[in-house]
Amino acid sequence: MIHTAEVLIILLQFLLLVTAPLFLIRALVQIFSDRTDVPFVRTPRAMFPAIASALDIQPFDIVYELGSGDGGFLLWCAERYPNAKFTGIERNPLLYRYSEWRKKRSGRHNLSFVYGDIFSEEYAAARKIYCYLLNPVMDRFLPKLERTFHGTLASRAFRFSTKEPERTVELTSKKGGHGEHLLHIYDFS
Ligand SMILES: C[S@@+](CC[C@H](N)C(=O)[O-])C[C@H]1O[C@@H](n2cnc3c(N)ncnc32)[C@H](O)[C@@H]1O
Repeated sequence: MIHTAEVLIILLQFLLLVTAPLFLIRALVQIFSDRTDVPFVRTPRAMFPAIASALDIQPFDIVYELGSGDGGFLLWCAERYPNAKFTGIERNPLLYRYSEWRKKRSGRHNLSFVYGDIFSEEYAAARKIYCYLLNPVMDRFLPKLERTFHGTLASRAFRFSTKEPERTVELTSKKGGHGEHLLHIYDFS
């Protein structure tokens, strides 16, 4: 006869087996986040349609994401806008490899991920940019944008301190502590 204690131990072992790899992956992503200016926090999938619509992505647009994380937003866009081109720049090697793997699995050819620093890349070809960074990082990035970028930038939650957004839209009615429910749209044309 199986005792309750034995059932509990089996259940605990099962739980450990399932959750341990998830904890390990999370820890590894955070360790590699030390090399980046902003830690990895994913934009929820439910917000993708509103962000794409605010960016007004056109059939032959060229769209960049600064710090593309797990690649989720650009993969979603690349499927819905097959003639537009999408580029994600990511400095966390684990996240970069993971997005590359997801891209290959999706079979999409209108999408590329660059393993690099957003401050070292060129944006003259870009027409739309999405980012979810932090205020100081955006401020450091502003001079480069003003010199080289001509288009629309959408930033979730965070703003430039010396440039006003054209408009701000609500991505969800549930308010976040840092304004994560807001998307600020900037015009660099
Ligand atoms: C808050 S997360 C947002 C991830 C993704 N954009 C999203 O919305 O789901 C910020 C991302 O920027 C990346 N990052 C931070 N500093 C970077 C840098 N200097 N160059 C490239 N990527 C960077 C981080 O590794 C992280 O994946």
